[in-house]
Amino acid sequence: MPDNRVLRVGLVGTGFMGRAHSNAYNQVKRFFLGETDVELVAVCSRDEAKARDFAAQWGFISYETDWRRLVARDDIDLIDIASPNDTHAEIAVAAAEAGKMVACEKPLGRSLAEARRMVNAVERARVANMIWYNYRRVPALTLANDMIRQGRLGRIFHSRFKFLQDWTMSADLPQGGPGTWRLDASRSGSGVSGDLLAHCIDAAQWLVGPVAEVCGMTEIFIPERVHAVSGKREVITAEDAGLFLARFADGSLASFEATRFARGHKALFTLEVNGEHGSIEWDLHDLHRLRFFSHRDESALRGWRSIHVSDSDHPYMKAWWVPGLQIGYEHTFVHQVADFLKGLSTGEKTVPDFRDGLAVDRVVDAVLRSARSRQWVTVGDTRQTFMSEVPTETDRTAKPT
Ligand SMILES: NC(=O)c1ccc[n+]([C@@H]2O[C@H](COP(=O)([O-])OP(=O)(O)OC[C@H]3O[C@@H](n4cnc5c(N)ncnc54)[C@H](O)[C@@H]3O)[C@@H](O)[C@H]2O)c1
Repeated sequence: MPDNRVLRVGLVGTGFMGRAHSNAYNQVKRFFLGETDVELVAVCSRDEAKARDFAAQWGFISYETDWRRLVARDDIDLIDIASPNDTHAEIAVAAAEAGKMVACEKPLGRSLAEARRMVNAVERARVANMIWYNYRRVPALTLANDMIRQGRLGRIFHSRFKFLQDWTMSADLPQGGPGTWRLDASRSGSGVSGDLLAHCIDAAQWLVGPVAEVCGMTEIFIPERVHAVSGKREVITAEDAGLFLARFADGSLASFEATRFARGHKALFTLEVNGEHGSIEWDLHDLHRLRFFSHRDESALRGWRSIHVSDSDHPYMKAWWVPGLQIGYEHTFVHQVADFLKGLSTGEKTVPDFRDGLAVDRVVDAVLRSARSRQWVTVGDTRQTFMSEVPTETDRTAKPT
């Protein structure tokens, strides 16, 4: 970035997240005007017509059809990866090595090894980085996190996280290809674990703290599907459902459940945290509400309250409409961009970053290992364990003796 006033963005991917991110870059300057502005310099899609149309629709000045050319451009500061999981590591590492800042969709890598390489690359290059665990920026969840930090729940004993969908229940749904790459584990890395459980795990580690050990189980209900690319029936290795029990480093207990086989549920992400002094409960289908119970209330009036998180003193809400009017899903991405831009101006690191993404991948990896071995698995501390795997400055410059 030649100065701190304009962040020049190059986006990879024109699908669901490509649209969500583009919308965020467009909206942020209208609602969160700060010291740093955004310029949409180029979008990349392998299909030229798609890239051209997308650029025109979302306000990108130019387009590319190969992400390598995007990374090579010297008029781009940030490479934003909104393409499927099998592209994350290669693009992120190349972007960091080219000195670009990197934003990446979740999960960070398809595997722990990929996630480690990505963290290593951005830290060696010392470039700003973030991962799009956007649910942290639902105002009701940001408020929940603030309340936990303020000690309103006291010591935490239990938490529960669920993400339920039903879109893969038909045996006729193929795997692989542009629409169903999530079902092909060679492209996605895993099934619901890296996809839906990953959101639950990030929320859990942000709200409660590091997960220390897990005991998981997974299931594949439809073992073979036609592959959209080969046209042949092929074995499925991406799990349709995943559940696990967890013990956090603070000694509290949690349960996690994610599935694409819960008929009737499209995106039911819910969480609950129970502490010594109170509890909170949240549901993505009613995302502006935070349910809160405080045991410190006067006993005759004690009960669950439903906070409509839409007032000007609620997180992010002052920038939007008048109190009482709510916002939605797309705004979480706007908030994440706003915080990233603010971080660039103040020099403050924006979270979640790649290391937080690695911390999620570490739990996902432990859950999958636990499900395979039918044993409890210790997760290990990302920061400590990982640091010993990253060569130090001395290691990198040392000449062989
Ligand atoms: N944060 C969230 O809540 C959330 C929600 C959905 C998806 N995601 C993540 O976002 C990523 C993208 O998911 P999606 O739902 O947008 O997928 P999608 O299938 O809707 O879109 C993917 C896009 O990437 C493009 N693409 C694929 N390979 C490419 C390549 N080599 N070069 C350039 N473009 C390429 C495709 O053409 C498509 O435009 C995934 O990692 C997914 O896990 C996150």
